Amino acid sequence: MTKVTIPFIQSLKGQRKFAMLTAYDAPFARLVDESGVEMILVGDSLGMVMLGHNSTSPVTMDEMVHHAKAVGRTAKRCLLVGDMPFMSYQADASEAIRNAGRLIKEAGMDCVKLEGTSKQSPIAKAIVDAGIAVIGHIGLTPQTAASLGGINVIGGQNAATAQRIVDDALAMQSAGCWCVLMEAVPADLAAYITKRLSVPTIGIGAGIGCDGQVLVSHEMFGMFPGFGLPFGKHYAEAGELIRNGMKQYHQDVLHGTFPEAANSFPIDAEMIRRLESGE
Ligand code: KIV
Repeated sequence: MTKVTIPFIQSLKGQRKFAMLTAYDAPFARLVDESGVEMILVGDSLGMVMLGHNSTSPVTMDEMVHHAKAVGRTAKRCLLVGDMPFMSYQADASEAIRNAGRLIKEAGMDCVKLEGTSKQSPIAKAIVDAGIAVIGHIGLTPQTAASLGGINVIGGQNAATAQRIVDDALAMQSAGCWCVLMEAVPADLAAYITKRLSVPTIGIGAGIGCDGQVLVSHEMFGMFPGFGLPFGKHYAEAGELIRNGMKQYHQDVLHGTFPEAANSFPIDAEMIRRLESGE
């Protein structure tokens, strides 16, 4: 088993595609690590997928570290990316560096990801200058989706909005981000940006022209209803499989067909006889 590194992912640009999936706990980290997928993202999507919030904004740094630790302890092969949650990096650079450091030191992540536009690129640069590798997440940035007018495709409205996304990508690259993630960006625009950048790009809802792709695991396996845009593809209906198993278990308990002898621990019948007779 060879550990996936940042230079390895960079070397794939223009050679072959690569993939990333989210994981927020040990069972999913183990499955992704065993699947051949190159990267794991401990995304702040965990706020919606795991914690029941209706946006990613409430996720705290402590929650990110808690979940990232479980992934960091488990995955041995994948390159690990820890997401910076809302307001963990926007206020000032030293707080951003300290929080990024927590994902590396406490949780064992290989790099961090932060959402933003060219306005956040100085913060990305400060983290990079502190020695932490950063992925810049541009396009639809769910932490601030409300201020963008909701969950929408970004950049395709007119030439000016398209140029803004190009500028955001170039600013993140100039800040030293080793990779740029584009969410909900029109496919041809994402393909154009991928060609303009020397660093790899990863897309979600950004078409086939990106260097790599990312999906939210629980959504692709039918275990989460979705984020409001048709990004993903259902690769398996694990949610249905699990629900059917739970229904079957319920019926077995109601009808006394679980547990069976094989799921029980025997005791010498003579001991029960003595208990009953009070000997
Ligand atoms: O938090 C997350 O899962 C993400 C992906 C949607 C890219 O940022």
